Amino acid sequence: MRQPLVVGNWKMNGSIASIQSLLEGIKQAIPTVPSAEVGVCPPFVYLFQVSSSLGNTSITWGAQNVSHEAPGAFTGEIATGMLADFRCKYVIIGHSERRHIYGETDDLIAKKWVATQKAGMIPILCVGELLEEREANQTEQVVGRQLEAVLKLTGIGSFNKGVIAYEPVWAIGTGKTASPQQAQEMHAFIRQQLARYDADIAQKVQILYGGSVKGSNAAELFAMPDIDGGLIGGAALKAEEFITICQAAKS
Ligand code: 13P
Repeated sequence: MRQPLVVGNWKMNGSIASIQSLLEGIKQAIPTVPSAEVGVCPPFVYLFQVSSSLGNTSITWGAQNVSHEAPGAFTGEIATGMLADFRCKYVIIGHSERRHIYGETDDLIAKKWVATQKAGMIPILCVGELLEEREANQTEQVVGRQLEAVLKLTGIGSFNKGVIAYEPVWAIGTGKTASPQQAQEMHAFIRQQLARYDADIAQKVQILYGGSVKGSNAAELFAMPDIDGGLIGGAALKAEEFITICQAAKS
């Protein structure tokens, strides 16, 4: 049985004040979330604030990116050990905004997966196709390639301590959600790709859906058999909306 997981990806949003009130709102309402694990991923500079505020709660936190390099002369980068220092449980890696705006490659992302696990944290690997790739019937090929990069570098065993997020790029921040059927199809495909190597691990790995999830559409998405929760962008910035989404995730 896979526990549902709902993670807020705050992206490059927030201030000390707005994050304080968002955290208060989430903490206050968390007892109304029956079965999902709830996590938040703030910008790096707010990790201290988030870890101090959530330390005694069941809410977990993580980062939105990390360097695969060991500490040293890498101006502007953040090392895995630094995130572990702030007790991050998760690190989002390979988000489409990292892939498409900052040119991160499959190989680099696979290295980040390995480095994150080495530091004792759980990578959330984002995969997903562009609209033109979907229209050219390349969705499975693209997502398969993104998964394969990690499998090739480190093997199926590493998926015991990893999470996958399927985020079709055309659904991110556009208000256009994949239909529950479209999402389910890809989640099943991802599970099937992993099952070629190890059926047991494939059954156990949590696969989240991301892309315009809202309070109003979360329940129908999370009802699909291979969707184990969500990676939430815009709707995670409002406590009430985020909690509604978390409540929709039941085991
Ligand atoms: P939105 O929920 O704003 O579409 O963003 C999804 C996302 O990119 C989460 O990582």
